[in-house]
Amino acid sequence: MKIEENVSLAAHSTMRLGGNARYLADVNNQQELQELIAWAKPYNLPVIMIGRGSNIIWRDEGFNGLVLVNKIMGKALLAEDNHSATLKIFSGENWDKTVGWAVDKKLTGIEYMSLVPGTVGAAPVQNVGAYGGELSDSLLELEAYDNQFGAFVKLQNHECGFSYRSSRFKTTDRGRFFIISITLTLRKTDPVPPFYESLQRYLDEHGIHKYTPKTIRKAVIDIRQNKLPDPEKVANNGSFFTNPVVDTAKFEALRAKYPDIKGWPTSDGRMKIAAGWLVETAGFKGVRDEPTGMATWPAQALVLVNEHARRTTDLLEFKQKILFKVEELFDVILEQEPELLPQI
Ligand code: EPU
Repeated sequence: MKIEENVSLAAHSTMRLGGNARYLADVNNQQELQELIAWAKPYNLPVIMIGRGSNIIWRDEGFNGLVLVNKIMGKALLAEDNHSATLKIFSGENWDKTVGWAVDKKLTGIEYMSLVPGTVGAAPVQNVGAYGGELSDSLLELEAYDNQFGAFVKLQNHECGFSYRSSRFKTTDRGRFFIISITLTLRKTDPVPPFYESLQRYLDEHGIHKYTPKTIRKAVIDIRQNKLPDPEKVANNGSFFTNPVVDTAKFEALRAKYPDIKGWPTSDGRMKIAAGWLVETAGFKGVRDEPTGMATWPAQALVLVNEHARRTTDLLEFKQKILFKVEELFDVILEQEPELLPQI
């Protein structure tokens, strides 16, 4: 076990901000995980496990505990029949490579989430989703270390509390479970329309009429590469706000004032508004905020990028400017999507 001391956490967030971790260690397997947790116990140190930091913003104060960087690797085909296949993937694996691996096997279910940055273990936490698909549609079960009871557990899909961009791992049981592996059930039939609007438009414009996991993956990759910054090159956490849900009366009132507002009905009879539209209409698309060093991405206002911010407080200050304007204009309070850690 190699435990480093006073490590900058900026390298462990694709927003590249934040203070130091008191201790940090890589975890390669379940045994190492148990050993590291046992090491931290006598010191009463809080322990958290992270992937590649694609959806994490660290506070400037840093983390006065032990950060475990998930490097638990491996993937296998567990079972298959004529209709479906069951795959097990360990949580340190790269998410997009996993999608590519499933697509190469001609399996359908996660191709919509191609090129989403991060690890497999992070995917259930925010119930990762894109272009009309989300992880909870394909996840059978997952294995996790329950830090509250000190034991490895299996959680079935219905026990994960999944909803739009959320799960129990992000809400009621934040920090309690360290995800070890996920098991997916994917179909052997090709994806079928209706597809997400912008995806269908892309397919039509490119004359793609044969819908396979491979053609959909290729289309999603192309759309994303044109619209979203690559976190390897530009510091960002993807969508910074979730799409807010309002009741129909409120949506209609907004539509009367802003006829081009973008929104979709939800399954519970309310309306989800495109946060990107709200941020853009509030005047924040492609805006560079010199005092904070933050900006919004020119091709997608929902993505905040760190151009030369030095502290997380700079980012939070810029976020506040957007929140204030959006609330003032639309009376809607946007919610941050990436996790601010440590929680206080
Ligand atoms: N829009 C604007 N201005 C903008 C951005 C978007 O008017 O600057 C409008 C678009 O014209 C469109 C609508 O908003 O009518 C929705 O935009 P888009 O399809 O780009 O999707 P999104 O709602 O902005 C969500 C996810 C993304 C995911 C895409 C595609 C959330 C918070 N974001 O974005 O997820 O890739 O749909 O499915 O749900 C992420 O979570 O990090 C992420 C990138």
